This record gives sequence, structure tokens and C-alpha cells, in this order.
Amino acid sequence: MTYSSWETLKKDCLSCEKCQLKNGRTQVVFGTGNRQAKVLFIGEGPGEQEDKQGKPFVGRSGQYLDKMLAAVGLDRNKDLYIANIVKCRPPQNRDPQPEEQEACLPWLRAQTALIRPKIIVCLGRIAAMKLIRPDFKITREHGIFFEKAGVAMMATLHPAALLRNPAAKPGALQDMLALRTKMEELGLAEPETFPDEPCP
Ligand code: URA
Repeated sequence: MTYSSWETLKKDCLSCEKCQLKNGRTQVVFGTGNRQAKVLFIGEGPGEQEDKQGKPFVGRSGQYLDKMLAAVGLDRNKDLYIANIVKCRPPQNRDPQPEEQEACLPWLRAQTALIRPKIIVCLGRIAAMKLIRPDFKITREHGIFFEKAGVAMMATLHPAALLRNPAAKPGALQDMLALRTKMEELGLAEPETFPDEPCP
């Protein structure tokens, strides 16, 4: 279905019953940020805090994401829009199953059609495998831009994975610097230089 209005899209999405994840949710986590932004970040699915608050990336991994964005001068409310592959919390934060991802994808497609992003950043392996390539290897291919239907697509490590494995943080900062450079190339951000120091 094509939507020409965010209001109708959001209203329909919030009452979605297309998969079993509806049974365990407190609420649907639709997405937040700047609907006019040309950069779309896509995570995997809501965790406990997101399910409680109704917003993506508001728990510990979201706080770390904010730090990474700040390190390259980006603000989630101004420079991007953030959504997830699945919009309802999977039980015990397990990976969303292929049929749950497939059932939920039309909502993300409709959001993408309204935003018309120039850049999509996949946060973690699940989003990268769904949106870039099913055999995407996040450890080898993070930070690389792939062109898909006129959109520059890149995946970076999921902030939760960075909190579990701090050794991966410098690589993730390089990804954010690459994003900033791509935004500058596309005229979406003013040229600026940033320190090459990973966030603690
Ligand atoms: N992890 C995700 O992938 N998405 C969220 O919204 C929160 C944590």
C-alpha cells in the first residue's frame, strides 16, 4: 500500500496485527526523528525500553548511538530519521524471525517512500542482511557504501554489539566518519573535521 500521509501511515501501523509479535508488545515502535531528513537509520527491533517508551533506540544502545552520532556532529532529531526492521519487541530480545521481518517490511517501505532518503544506514547484521544482501558479512563489510536504487546504503555495527565488544568501537567510529563524508559529498552536511577518537 502507498501512503501519501504520515498520519494515516502511523495510525495504521500502530494497530498492526500482521504477525505474532503483536502478542507481546506494549506498543508499536513506529520511528522517530526528522521526517525531512535525507538520512535513514534502521535498527533491528525494539528492546525493553523502546517497547515501554514507544521510541526506537532509547535504551543503553540508543544512548551509545547518540554518542557516536555526536562524535561526527550529527543529531538524531535533526539530521536523521530512525526506524527498525520490526516494530514490535521480539520476546527476550531474540532476533526477529524471517516471517516477522517480511510481515513488517511494508511499514518500513512506506516510511522510506515518504522520506525519500539519499543515505540508509543499517545498524547491525539483521538490518544489513534484510536491506543490503542476505549474505552480508557485517564484520567484513561495515562502513562500505553500496548503491541501491539511487540510495547510498551502508551498514555499521549495532551499538549493542559495541557495548558488548568495545574493541570494535574504533571501526564503528570510522563508519560514522565515512557517513559524514558521504553526507558532505551529497550536500547534506557542511564540511567539517572531527577527531579520530572512538567514543568511550
Ligand atoms: N536495538 C534495535 O535494533 N532497535 C532499537 O530500537 C533498540 C535497540
